[in-house]
Amino acid sequence: MYYSQHLSCICMPHAVLLQPKRSWSSSHSNAGKRLGHCTQVPRNVNLEKLRSGYLFPEISKRESEHMQKNPHASLLRLGIGDTTEPIPDIITLAMVEHVRGLSTILGYRGYGAEQGNMALRKAIAEKLYQDMGIKADEIFVSDGAQCDISRLQMLLGPNVTVAVQDPSFPAYIDSSVIVGRAGELEEETGKYENIIYMNCGPENNFFPDLSTTPRTDIIFFCSPNNPTGHAASRQQLKQLVAFAKANGSIIIYDSAYAAYITDESPKSIFEIPGAKEVAIEISSFSKFAGFTGVRLGWSVVPKELLYSNGFPVIKDFNRIVCTCFNGASNIAQAGGLACLSTDGYQALRNVIDYYMENANIIVDAFSSLGSNVYGGTNAPYIWAHFPGLSSWNVFSEILEKTNIVTVPGRGFGPGGEQYIRVSSFGQRERIIEASRRIKKFLR
Ligand SMILES: Cc1ncc(COP(=O)(O)O)c(C=O)c1O
Repeated sequence: MYYSQHLSCICMPHAVLLQPKRSWSSSHSNAGKRLGHCTQVPRNVNLEKLRSGYLFPEISKRESEHMQKNPHASLLRLGIGDTTEPIPDIITLAMVEHVRGLSTILGYRGYGAEQGNMALRKAIAEKLYQDMGIKADEIFVSDGAQCDISRLQMLLGPNVTVAVQDPSFPAYIDSSVIVGRAGELEEETGKYENIIYMNCGPENNFFPDLSTTPRTDIIFFCSPNNPTGHAASRQQLKQLVAFAKANGSIIIYDSAYAAYITDESPKSIFEIPGAKEVAIEISSFSKFAGFTGVRLGWSVVPKELLYSNGFPVIKDFNRIVCTCFNGASNIAQAGGLACLSTDGYQALRNVIDYYMENANIIVDAFSSLGSNVYGGTNAPYIWAHFPGLSSWNVFSEILEKTNIVTVPGRGFGPGGEQYIRVSSFGQRERIIEASRRIKKFLR
């Protein structure tokens, strides 16, 4: 549903408030009595093109409705991919020490470098991009990968063409729409005009058929993928880099879940020779270190990556970062540095192993009853297939019958229809209980 379809402004400028303030959506359902004052400012047409709600707020809304109907239900949230386990002490203590220092003359720090603290940039380069030729000054520390997706959209502007995996993390498409790159949403297909959707499902080993994929300027690619949990193989990534090179495209590679890879799949696009000439990588401490609330990420923009006129992309990204971002919190960066210390890194590996054991338990629950289930080996997400069924219906049925919140695959694009995503972030006893309920539901 689109607000734009229903909301031609019926109030006049300087309308008088007659009733107490109501939310936009409730005023929408009773538009004739809408309160407020219409300015003469038109709504951004690109925002009008967006679906009514971003996926996760919509899920929260349905969850609240369920809880209103069933106030005593014991709800298990395996929907939104938020981490649940405490951040290891060694990391929080480094942040505490930094915070204490801020109250001292010697330890006080104000603004830092917009690109991030050099010690952290070096640690990221050395620990996570070893032998890939990535230098510290090609790393830009951020307040999270999602924020960097938007900054990259600002960098690229509205006039580039774009391809995304289908299904994919919704931010790539939504931010493309917001910067004005997309046409209208086609109701029938669920796809925006002017965006190329690269289908990735079990039938193509979750990798797009590049022989039929049209050239675009930008290719968003996420591995391990949210939501399917698939980590692209070295061979697949070599094909992707060759495809980008042949077409003169830029890959925006999201490696937010790289730390969850347990097999030989590359953890970075820069493991692939030649990738520095065609790729930017965005990544995050969110899922790697439980920093979803602390907020810390980074982007790698190699110096070799040039626009068609030969100008280095890194110079423009630096400009964007300096203009639109004033650097990540120095407290979060102190924590980030501790994450990359030998002991900090080991402590984080233990937490990741815990989540991956959870993933095993959930995968077993689905597969023991013969369901087709993917993911869960290189990512904390399980992608369960319900052939022929609508994913929102499966979501609702699971919520109703098991009190488990999942995510309907459709929320990740038309290619997610018939699937649900189950997150393995959670405390063990809750995961075991969820697995018991899933088995009962599937039986
Ligand atoms: C693929 C992917 N990229 C980026 C993000 C956002 O990460 P951050 O918390 O660093 O903004 C998420 C969050 O769920 C994600 O799944």
